[in-house]
Amino acid sequence: MRRWQGDGISFGGDYNPEQWPEETWSEDVDLMRRAGVNLVSVGIFSWALLEPTPGRFEFGWLDRVLGLLHDGGVQVDLATATASPPPWLARQHPQTLPRRADGVTLWPGGRQAYCPSSPIFRERSLDLVRAVAGRYAEHPAVVMWHVSNELGCHNVHCYCDVSAEAFRGWLRERYGDLDRLNDAWGTAFWSQRYGDWAEINPPRAAPTFANPTQQLDFLRFSSDEQRAQLRAEREVLRTLVRQPVTTNFMIGLGVKHMDYHSWAADVDLVSNDHYLTAADPLAHLGLALAADHTRGVAGGAPWLLMEHSTSAVNWQPRNVAKLPGQLRRNSLAHVARGADGVLFFQWRASRAGAEKFHSALVPHAGPNTKVFREVCQLGADLRALAEVRGSRVDADVAILFDWEAWWAVELDSHPSVDVTYADRLNALYGALWRAGVTADIVHPSADLGGYRLVLAPTLYLVRDADAEALQRYVEAGGTALVTYFSGIVDANDHIRLGGYPGAFRDLLGVRTEEFFPLREGERVHLDDGSVADVWTEWLHAEGADVLASYTDGPLPGVPALTRNAVGDGAAWYVGTRLDEPATDRLVARLLAEADVRPAAPAPSGVEVVRRRDGDRTWLFAINHTDDEVRVAATGVDLLTGGRCGGELGLPAGGVAVVREDRADGPS
Ligand code: GLA
Repeated sequence: MRRWQGDGISFGGDYNPEQWPEETWSEDVDLMRRAGVNLVSVGIFSWALLEPTPGRFEFGWLDRVLGLLHDGGVQVDLATATASPPPWLARQHPQTLPRRADGVTLWPGGRQAYCPSSPIFRERSLDLVRAVAGRYAEHPAVVMWHVSNELGCHNVHCYCDVSAEAFRGWLRERYGDLDRLNDAWGTAFWSQRYGDWAEINPPRAAPTFANPTQQLDFLRFSSDEQRAQLRAEREVLRTLVRQPVTTNFMIGLGVKHMDYHSWAADVDLVSNDHYLTAADPLAHLGLALAADHTRGVAGGAPWLLMEHSTSAVNWQPRNVAKLPGQLRRNSLAHVARGADGVLFFQWRASRAGAEKFHSALVPHAGPNTKVFREVCQLGADLRALAEVRGSRVDADVAILFDWEAWWAVELDSHPSVDVTYADRLNALYGALWRAGVTADIVHPSADLGGYRLVLAPTLYLVRDADAEALQRYVEAGGTALVTYFSGIVDANDHIRLGGYPGAFRDLLGVRTEEFFPLREGERVHLDDGSVADVWTEWLHAEGADVLASYTDGPLPGVPALTRNAVGDGAAWYVGTRLDEPATDRLVARLLAEADVRPAAPAPSGVEVVRRRDGDRTWLFAINHTDDEVRVAATGVDLLTGGRCGGELGLPAGGVAVVREDRADGPS
């Protein structure tokens, strides 16, 4: 692991100078200095310019760009430039093009038009990495390497013949022989038994539901193929360069198909791209969740926000612009949750191409704009936060998250289409956010020992070892909550027999004999006043205490909320989809039982998070409301230099980062 070195918080964005005449470049560097930009990503989509014809490289323009940046004191995260192949690759080798499940070929003209399993793509892209890394390994501006770009964003699933052969190879590795594959895939069902590897294909368009384990394995394979590109590029880089290597993940964008938990070990630092769902007035909750999840993937280490937007994007149905102050709140919320760098897509707004209406640090209207002024202000803010770099985020709560569980729970032919992976995750996370409590979003195999409370939303697929770890966590005194449709299947998507929720039955002290999903819009009531919808189940308490039961719906009198005392801890189960007030009440009870407190007492709508480095702590307070608020804090606000002694006044939309006084006196 190579260390990501740096002074203070990194600040900048994707820089695409090849879209502009050279005269613009010096102005760019001048404006970067004015804004306080100190890190830019260069060359991400430059393959066609760097290698205009196969095997002939042209580096002159990139030499000049890197020289200008270096002279201006701006550091570079240099891309391997493999993100999107030039049109000549597909012309020369049409078999490198990706194919959809219905057989349609995806052509160049957009980006990422390559089959992830293509040996030709792999070879040509690695030639490029060798050429770029060989030339710039020692360049004094280059401090980091950026593999590809958002691997798998558009081409994660390819169903072509090359992919089919690669899938068979992956399955041979996983299962060794066909008998094991047939067992794992349950091929006794519907006459699916395979007698020869050559009979196996990706789950291409079929007359009806494809085998679920085949689908699940194809999703695993597809994530692994993208990861293989990352690893192959990284291996080349490791032999040629000494700087740390990253690639930008897409955690929290609803991007489902890359298992970043398994990828994290392949990068020296985790970096992430995040864009608000702009139409959502509570998009800052999604931002916070994405940031907490990125930190979880990074194992708690500081991470880099590789991309977000200064204002609107171009790819949502209605690209709502950010209001004054929102850019600052968004950026500093990422820093609060562990980012040591804040970068954007992109430096200068394009004048041509599909992203010409995407915001940037320098808008079409130029620097005399609200956006550029806010960018300069952010640069100053981040300089003031330099001392925060390297610190970690305090969190007493863990939420378990597993990409494989996400893939499995959303396969077809399940009891209700209304059960989605994000639903209970968002609901529980929202309740914690409203309570001012920070959570780490971690894989079920993570060490849970340091947490006071662990939440397991919709953990449909769970491995034996991870279920046992949760049991041990509770026995040792932990508090856990499991929500409905968890523990149902093993890693092969086979039902755990004997009653639901299979893997968690003993831990929870309950046994469900049948699911009773609700009709669309149907609601049920519980005898503690809670309202719920979507899901109920015929549950028997077998050791657990019943905390609430249904008063109506298909199962009046049947338990809906239970608590089981186990060892020194307790395991709670909720068998229905509580609405927001009921979820808030449930989470408040769990926080009280586990003795979890907010980072600081603050009014609702104010985000509070604490970063810590040894005995030094910083309290971030972000006011998402339209009113001035008061937050309990003692220390110095690094953004204003002002002292607060017990209480901090925070204007509507304002942010404070308080270096807190240490117990032995003011810092
Ligand atoms: C992604 C990509 C960028 C750009 C932005 C637009 O994050 O990495 O190249 O397309 O989206 O929001």
